[in-house]
Amino acid sequence: MQSITQAIHTRPVCTRDSHAESVALTSAYDFASAEQASARFSGAEPGNVYSRFTNPSVALFERKIAALEAGEAAVGLASGMAAYLTVGMTFLQQGDHVLIGSGIFGTTTHLFREYFTRFGIEVTSVAVNDSAAWQKKIKKQTRLLLVESPTNPMLQIAHLSSLAALAKKNNALLVVDNTLLSPIFQQPLTLGADIVLHSAGKFLDGQGRCVGGALIGKTELIKPARAYLRSTGVCMSPFNAWVFSKGLETLQARMLMHEQNCRYVYQALQQEAGITDLFATFHTQHPQRMLIQQQQKGHVPILTFRLDGDKARVWCFMNALKLVRLCTNIGDAQTMITHPASTTHGRYSTEERQKSGISDNLVRLCIGLDDPGDVVRDIQQALKSVLS
Ligand SMILES: Cc1ncc(COP(=O)(O)O)c(C=O)c1O
Repeated sequence: MQSITQAIHTRPVCTRDSHAESVALTSAYDFASAEQASARFSGAEPGNVYSRFTNPSVALFERKIAALEAGEAAVGLASGMAAYLTVGMTFLQQGDHVLIGSGIFGTTTHLFREYFTRFGIEVTSVAVNDSAAWQKKIKKQTRLLLVESPTNPMLQIAHLSSLAALAKKNNALLVVDNTLLSPIFQQPLTLGADIVLHSAGKFLDGQGRCVGGALIGKTELIKPARAYLRSTGVCMSPFNAWVFSKGLETLQARMLMHEQNCRYVYQALQQEAGITDLFATFHTQHPQRMLIQQQQKGHVPILTFRLDGDKARVWCFMNALKLVRLCTNIGDAQTMITHPASTTHGRYSTEERQKSGISDNLVRLCIGLDDPGDVVRDIQQALKSVLS
């Protein structure tokens, strides 16, 4: 045998006794026989086929996130938007109608309004916190109700159990984007939701390293979503799945600390001149505090506030920060600040932004795991520089 052939066919060392799981960086799988290959392809025998739709590292992440969300099954996907695309393509057809929470992540709204409507699907936006409006807007053709709770950055809450009941009555599916609270602080499936959706690169990852998404729910709903994945290839990379799996092991500890740090920063900012309308879901005056207590076990570490001034002053304030990072991501160990009107919600019309409260002088902080005292001091020095 030539040395090149010998090198190429050298078999891997068995890694079963490695304490940390290995990353299954493989596109394909060896079959013991032609019969087995055929059985795996047809689904008659369970097992790996091809990493576009089955991969051990992705499967491990799926089992972990399903357990955390109290779901029967999960499917890992390329991104949160790939998860939304999968939901739409799997469960909608021409003539269907979708109800979508207003003020949710701008790209989600854009996907449904700009793309799904091209294929004969009607999309209506409804305020997430107005349960009566959902009752009013639902119609015979409504097949999907899509919400985020809380919304980001305005922190409005959807009444998940009543939306679940409404969806069920109408033979529609309630899909809840649980990216902000994570399963540690909210389990929408236990409140009646049909599918939970995640942008996995946020709190599940925890350190802003990878992009990924997931859908969790009953096997009968996840199975067709995986079939869509098989035909389209919106798959999660095995490496990203490995990072997310590791992230899930520290998720609870991180979420508790994020919330603790956020409460500290909130207390300090309450006293700051120049800051108006400070929003947090643990705010004692939050108009939906009873509902928050009922359906959440903790709080997203997001603080949203308005600065006394116009957009130019807000941008000066942001540019004066030395520690807090200017970044549109959330769920990172580093505290981050975003100007929603010009970034995450820039695709909404000015009128819609105004209606949702996303004014030009609004900023969003996502509090990290860095020392909250240092974060407060950085915000104070930046405020001083623009308000003096
Ligand atoms: C709440 C929420 N859902 C979904 C998404 C989209 O996820 P991804 O960026 O992974 O496509 C985002 C965005 O970043 C988000 O903030």
